[in-house]
Amino acid sequence: MKDKLSTLKNSAKDIILQANTLQEIDDIRVKYLGKKGEITEISKSMKSLSPEERPLFGLLVNEAREFITEVLETRLAEVKAVVKAEQLFTETLDITLPGKKVEMGGLHPITETMNYLKNIFIEMGFDVAEGPEIEYTSNNFDALNIPESHPSRDLQDTFYMSENVVLRTHTSPVQVRYMGKNKPPFRMVCPGKVYRNDYDISHTPMFHQMEGLMVGENISFANLKAILTQFVTRVFGETNVRFRPHFFPFTEPSAEMDVECVICKGKGCRLCKDSGWLEIMGCGMVDPEVLKAVGYDPEEVTGFAFGMGIERITMLRYGIDDLRAFFENDVRFLKQFK
Ligand code: DAH
Repeated sequence: MKDKLSTLKNSAKDIILQANTLQEIDDIRVKYLGKKGEITEISKSMKSLSPEERPLFGLLVNEAREFITEVLETRLAEVKAVVKAEQLFTETLDITLPGKKVEMGGLHPITETMNYLKNIFIEMGFDVAEGPEIEYTSNNFDALNIPESHPSRDLQDTFYMSENVVLRTHTSPVQVRYMGKNKPPFRMVCPGKVYRNDYDISHTPMFHQMEGLMVGENISFANLKAILTQFVTRVFGETNVRFRPHFFPFTEPSAEMDVECVICKGKGCRLCKDSGWLEIMGCGMVDPEVLKAVGYDPEEVTGFAFGMGIERITMLRYGIDDLRAFFENDVRFLKQFK
């Protein structure tokens, strides 16, 4: 029995020393020390021995088990070291290589223009307000003096969510909300997205507007002209402007404001359709009906309002001649505005 154990120890040691992978070492461990391993098998033969022989036999078996365990662990440490060394060698990292370039994004020209225009008004003491894009017909139409029969209520233009909820067709409902929460005097602008069921070369179903409103005692058309002329000068530089009579249900009197064509300086060209002028926004004195709808007394306060399309102003600022460029997200286009 003693010989058998010693042969076993020797052969185990030989095999272990030849093992080169973690898997091989584990297999050997199972082969000798596992539940059905050779050491375990030998120890079972203890039953056939006399009581006197058993202690010595037990001692020898334990000694063999310890011996194999120790050789295994030593080899395991060696193999681990080799595996690690190989790994370090093959997975080298060249820290002198140049890093990957991270490209910085930029603001979309619409966002950039919106911030720019907003800041001009902030400098003139205007508050900035926002409102929901999903709006009640009461705010989008009724409170703005747009009667049920008005063409802009037509299903062709408006996206209806339900009978009395729409995607706002302009930023003007934010006026209504603002007046509901604030007491005059105040001046505010509200930029944002608006939606109309319209899609062709010069219309997209979603676009951006900025609305403005100034209400207080003795606010007159002269104030409107002064503020808007100042604003336009800041955007386009010293330029001639003109106010043309127009109609909006929520203002009376109403006007459209034109700037001298930024391309031909008034001589007439393709952009201004030979008129020499470019329409830039709608404006007017807030209709007394609108003031009444929010609980103001039109005998006490008056106000002016205006609304402009951000896409159009962005196109004029940067000489962009195709509205679709804003929404196609071609990086070659967008990169120019970084
Ligand atoms: N809401 C108008 C539109 O969408 C723009 C507008 C015109 C707003 C005149 C105003 C205004 O506040 O006074 O076309």
